[in-house]
Amino acid sequence: MAASMVDSVKTRRERSKAARKDASELVASRPYLIEQDWTAYTPEQHAIWRELVTRRLPQLHEHASRTYLEGFDQIGLQVDQLPELAKVSARLESRTGWNSTPVSGFLPSDAFFEMLAARRFPTTTWIRSREAMEYTPEPDIFHDVFGHVPMHAHPVFADFLQEYGRVCAGLKSAEALERMGRLFWFTVEFGVIHEEGRVKVYGSGLISSHGECTHVVERGSGLEIREFDLAKVMDTVVDVSRMQPVLYAIESFEQIYEAAREAESQLGE
Ligand SMILES: [Fe+2]
Repeated sequence: MAASMVDSVKTRRERSKAARKDASELVASRPYLIEQDWTAYTPEQHAIWRELVTRRLPQLHEHASRTYLEGFDQIGLQVDQLPELAKVSARLESRTGWNSTPVSGFLPSDAFFEMLAARRFPTTTWIRSREAMEYTPEPDIFHDVFGHVPMHAHPVFADFLQEYGRVCAGLKSAEALERMGRLFWFTVEFGVIHEEGRVKVYGSGLISSHGECTHVVERGSGLEIREFDLAKVMDTVVDVSRMQPVLYAIESFEQIYEAAREAESQLGE
């Protein structure tokens, strides 16, 4: 048992090393890569970041997975200023080989999967206005960096996300991709985990949204938290226009890493 676990960690490490790519090697995502001009942010934009972060942290200290909270410190996020992606990536790369790579906005799916498979997280650089503090239809730097990137400091979650991108990049059928989209939704975006006898949040949609997170921690009306089950996750149709009625709680990040590999064997073409 011990030997096979060591082997599987070693195998994961080797796969992850092989996956890393220089930005110049990206093909489908290349047109969307930009530079972050950190010096161009205004004092008002730094103030919006500070307000957003300050508003979220008290609830997260109580209800976020320790993996998220540790990642927040490990990647050096600061409360009072917008993150500089190159500095975040320098800290991340030495831990898990992930990079928070600036992009111009939404990516087509082939570009998105290519970047995940190369351990690069497509990261927007714009920040919402004061009129849209709680919600933006498109992800901004707050959703992307505050919501997603701290999780990339965790070795197993980091490997899961790369595997997810690799598996999706190899799929052609719209139905298979739709099913994989649900796996992403119920983990990366709206994931919850059993920790210390409670349900804690780790998905970026819950981390970055006070309303969505409150719905979960206060067990809002109609909310059902089920045990994670790959087949059921991939069967659950998502309605993005309303608070989530069902979430799937994992026991460990190994569980979703294995789920991504299992999904490949079920859906692979
Ligand atoms: Fe997201």
